[in-house]
Amino acid sequence: MKLAVTGKGGVGKTTFCALLSHALIKKGHKVLLIDADPDMNLATVIGIPEETKITPIVELKELIAERTGVEPGKPAPLFKMNPRVDDIPDRFCVSHNGMKLIVMGTIRSGGGGCACPENAFLKSLLSYLVVATDEWVILDMEAGIEHLGRGTAIGVDCMIVVVEPNRTSIETADRIKRLAGEIGIKRVLLVGNKTETKEEREYLSKHTEGHEIIGFLDISDGIRNLSRTGGSFEDPGGRSMQQVDLILEQLTAVGAAK
Ligand SMILES: Nc1ncnc2c1ncn2[C@@H]1O[C@H](COP(=O)(O)OP(=O)(O)OP(=O)(O)O)[C@@H](O)[C@H]1O
Ligand SMILES: [Mg+2]
Repeated sequence: MKLAVTGKGGVGKTTFCALLSHALIKKGHKVLLIDADPDMNLATVIGIPEETKITPIVELKELIAERTGVEPGKPAPLFKMNPRVDDIPDRFCVSHNGMKLIVMGTIRSGGGGCACPENAFLKSLLSYLVVATDEWVILDMEAGIEHLGRGTAIGVDCMIVVVEPNRTSIETADRIKRLAGEIGIKRVLLVGNKTETKEEREYLSKHTEGHEIIGFLDISDGIRNLSRTGGSFEDPGGRSMQQVDLILEQLTAVGAAK
């Protein structure tokens, strides 16, 4: 499946991407992770050593200029909207613990709807990665909704919105669901994160009418500790991995029913 993981800031998108990837690897699947958040920290969370060199794609200025047919650093009134990208995954993916990671980086020019060569390049690369790979693709997205209009989740089968048991993260999920429909993403599923009690899980179920919740990931000391000390999210202890396995089962059922 090709998934984009979204939600309000700090709800646990990156954590969930890392845990889901480990669950998939354990079951023998191949996983390509895409860090599509300008504030990129997926590499750290999946335990890639700090000294590993990772080039964010958007920093490949010359290559992007060449592929989109513009001169580096010059204004670009006209550029190719479908530049060649098929060699990029092999050249710029980093492998770690059986998963592959590609980091998109930050586009500094322009705001929402940015029509620039960098964005055209990233969009082409994303649709290529989503369509051309036969592995699980998991995109860790920027918080909020602004980026959705830029086509940052092109072609995914399904959007997962991570919510916490509070009103604001549910409001964000409502907006994401509306926008996802507008940009042609058919399936939007919720994962409840940082729940602590049965009441909190019930709160989420009750206040997310019209959404489909595929599981819960409780607040966990193991996850909290790992976020401080670093280290692999392969098994944060407690019930976390069991809960992620259950979410994966639900996802697989959704994928099979496609
Ligand atoms: N189930 C959990 N139990 C305990 N801590 C958690 C859990 N999920 C996430 N956290 C913690 O919450 C914080 C935010 O998580 P994370 O970085 O994954 O969120 P995010 O949605 O990716 O944030 P951003 O919007 O900044 O990208 C981290 O410190 C993380 O360790
Ligand atoms: Mg994040």
